[in-house]
Amino acid sequence: MKVLGIETSCDETGVAIFDTEKNMIVSEQLYSQASKHAEYGGVVPELASRDHLKKIIPLLRLTVAESGLDIDEIDGIAYTAGPGLRGPLLVGASAAKSIALALGKPSVGVHHMEAHLLINLLESPPPSFPFLTLLISGGHCLLIHAKALGRYEIIGQTLDDAVGEAFDKVAKILELGYPGGPKIELLAREGNPEAFNFPRPMTDKDNLDFSFSGLKTAVFYESKKISKASDNQKADIAASFQAAVADTLLWKCQKALRLTGLTELVIGGGVASNKNIREKLINGLTDKKIFFPPIERCTDNGAMIAYAGSFYLGKNKLDNGLEIKPRWPLSELDYG
Ligand code: KG4
Ligand code: ZN
Repeated sequence: MKVLGIETSCDETGVAIFDTEKNMIVSEQLYSQASKHAEYGGVVPELASRDHLKKIIPLLRLTVAESGLDIDEIDGIAYTAGPGLRGPLLVGASAAKSIALALGKPSVGVHHMEAHLLINLLESPPPSFPFLTLLISGGHCLLIHAKALGRYEIIGQTLDDAVGEAFDKVAKILELGYPGGPKIELLAREGNPEAFNFPRPMTDKDNLDFSFSGLKTAVFYESKKISKASDNQKADIAASFQAAVADTLLWKCQKALRLTGLTELVIGGGVASNKNIREKLINGLTDKKIFFPPIERCTDNGAMIAYAGSFYLGKNKLDNGLEIKPRWPLSELDYG
């Protein structure tokens, strides 16, 4: 089966084709709008919708051409139905539905965060259910007991900012630009992670929830104190902030693994591309099996949507209407 996947939930237009017989992505295209939103300091939904509209057809054409397949050979189309921005989601859903209708092939709307999780199953060797999952992106910070395909129990989540959101806000405070995550990671390499003792939020609490807004505020006040921060000081703040996030994530994962008795940890989402966070989790959990997607498949992409769709198209769980779900809790999956 060849599944075409379309991702448009935020500011990346991603298109890919997954071949189930070869168990591989046979072609993919990714366009990031990040530079367009940079001058506004964050994603502008209307701009994002218009840019997806501009890019989706050329990227679809390129992806099909590079696969060497004829469009008729596509067996089904998967698209991100949610969660995400309404306008951008509608662009991807409309494109997917139109192609499905024209080809007389099925389509399926997939859950963006489930796709971030499932892309790990394409690794070799893959994780096997049940496992613990940490999803860290621009909109989410979730600890999930993944019991089986489509059966996810959320056992911890952020009470305020998502991890990626905290990275983006701290980057704004340090005037590094958008998106903040990669910029903080780069600057942090030159800084001392012990220069500032930022809080490790919620690690004193007896639960698996997160909260990053206090940490962001601590960074804000510290950087105000040194209002004319030199580049060195900025690097120290970036490194110390990143260390506080990594320690907090590690601490919560250790606790979740202890409480659930699970032995495998699967990580996904844009923040999972952060090498410092990856290293801290790997070094802190040497007795567990840890799975990360390749760096380029951590941030939003079409490959994860094509791959996630292949599970549900195979089960004939198809959708009929042009339905998108901008808010869609992972615990409420319903592909039936
Ligand atoms: O998964 P993703 O591409 O989109 C959402 O589903 O939200 O994640 C984007 C988020 C942004 O907040 C971005 O700043 C963050 O992931 N991010 C990073 C890194 N690369 C992207 N955060 C920390 N370090 C990175 N290297
Ligand atoms: Zn994402």
